[in-house]
Amino acid sequence: MAEIKLTVNGVAHTAAVDPEMPLLFYLMDDLKLNGPKFGCGLAQCGACTVMVNGEATRSCTYPCSEAAGKSVMTIEGLGTAEKPHPLQQMFIEEQAVQCGFCISGVMLHGKEFVDKNPRATRDEIIAGLNGVMCRCYAHARMVRALERYAEGLRT
Ligand code: FES
Ligand code: FES
Repeated sequence: MAEIKLTVNGVAHTAAVDPEMPLLFYLMDDLKLNGPKFGCGLAQCGACTVMVNGEATRSCTYPCSEAAGKSVMTIEGLGTAEKPHPLQQMFIEEQAVQCGFCISGVMLHGKEFVDKNPRATRDEIIAGLNGVMCRCYAHARMVRALERYAEGLRT
């Protein structure tokens, strides 16, 4: 066990954990966050995505030791029910969420891509989501939400 200091959604924590344990388990089991999900456990599907120091990161294969001293944001930190982030608002308006299992990956990878590429075409946004799985096949509505989010960044 080791003591690791990190910030999660703006709150400082000291985690008493096995340093090799995936960050996802700390977020789910210790902090009781249910935004990031355990899907494949192999960095293949994106369901466990969180932002670490502003970078989309697959927390199922990211050891807690790597998170020491860093700032982690889960999907819970993006916005609130009362004040959703503009991207969340687009997902609501496009009814882009079906079961929601994939949403951490789609929203956080999608946001990271569009923030860096606000002029991305539809095809480029689709390519930007490569490696993020949605088993509900809700991609078309999600991509439309991301396109509308990009439009908002350009205006
Ligand atoms: S659960 Fe982490 S990428 Fe699938
Ligand atoms: S909305 Fe169900 S997996 Fe994507």
